[in-house]
Amino acid sequence: MKHYLSIHDIDSLPDWVAEARKLKENPTAHKALGSGRTICLLFFNNSLRTRLSTQKAALNLGMEVMVMNFGSEGWSLEYEDGTLMNQGTSEHIKEAARVVSQYCDIVAIRAFALLTDKEKDEAEVVLNGFKKYASVPIVNMEGSVAHPLQALADAITLGEQNTKTRPKVVLSWAPHPKALPHAVANSFVQMMQLQDADFVITNPKGYDLNPDIVNNVPIEHDQRKACEDADFIYVKNWSSYSDYGQVLHEDSDWMMTQEKLGKAQFMHCLPVRRNVVVEDAVLDGTQSLVIEQANNRTYAAQVVLKKLLES
Ligand code: CP
Repeated sequence: MKHYLSIHDIDSLPDWVAEARKLKENPTAHKALGSGRTICLLFFNNSLRTRLSTQKAALNLGMEVMVMNFGSEGWSLEYEDGTLMNQGTSEHIKEAARVVSQYCDIVAIRAFALLTDKEKDEAEVVLNGFKKYASVPIVNMEGSVAHPLQALADAITLGEQNTKTRPKVVLSWAPHPKALPHAVANSFVQMMQLQDADFVITNPKGYDLNPDIVNNVPIEHDQRKACEDADFIYVKNWSSYSDYGQVLHEDSDWMMTQEKLGKAQFMHCLPVRRNVVVEDAVLDGTQSLVIEQANNRTYAAQVVLKKLLES
């Protein structure tokens, strides 16, 4: 594996989940692997879990870690070729990526969708710019369209918690006051397509995800019907894809409640807005897996870094 940009960079999801669970049992077993190697984490957006779990994973592997809040502290980058740079941008990705590559062995990047121009977001200019000009592997810590570290952590959590041969898993849209990107939902859908599960997506009309990602996964617009007899319900807000980046309507009755959850286990990537996305009773109840999902972010990142260091 040269880079980790999408869940499709995983050659065998069951093998990676098994390896991550082994690392969880003995996190520092491969401390020598990263000795003398450095990872540079570049954040163009805020983070709690991704920032700390990726650092923890690197430290468990014996790596040195450098972190930069590029969005607020770095020079404003230019991504277009042949631009007359007499406006807002100060440094071209061609120099920046090559310079960063000299300081580290792996670069991990978070650069969210701007949600104003679908084509520009889907071009992933930041991640692909670094991929094109850097001379070291790139890890996606959430780009415009994918959050593959989160999806791998979710696969680990499902692997730990599932007791059925073919569980029913629901991805449910939830209300949110702000327009949010599609990355978490997209990667969860792609990850679930690699699982043996009865998987259904439920969202209000107007919020269907990118059909090229959804493929044959059924979409049910009746949330209660979709959640019936579920074993796991993964809740996440995303803005409209067809009416790109828009919040179409409030739909507050789509908030996840204990009643809708039934006997299912509750999943969410965090951060989560209490009593908007999900009611307190669910988050504070015994069926919530959110803290364990966040814990598994370390072992998801660790298996990715281990494979990059080994290759
Ligand atoms: N789930 C997740 O990526 O959390 P952060 O945005 O806090 O990193």
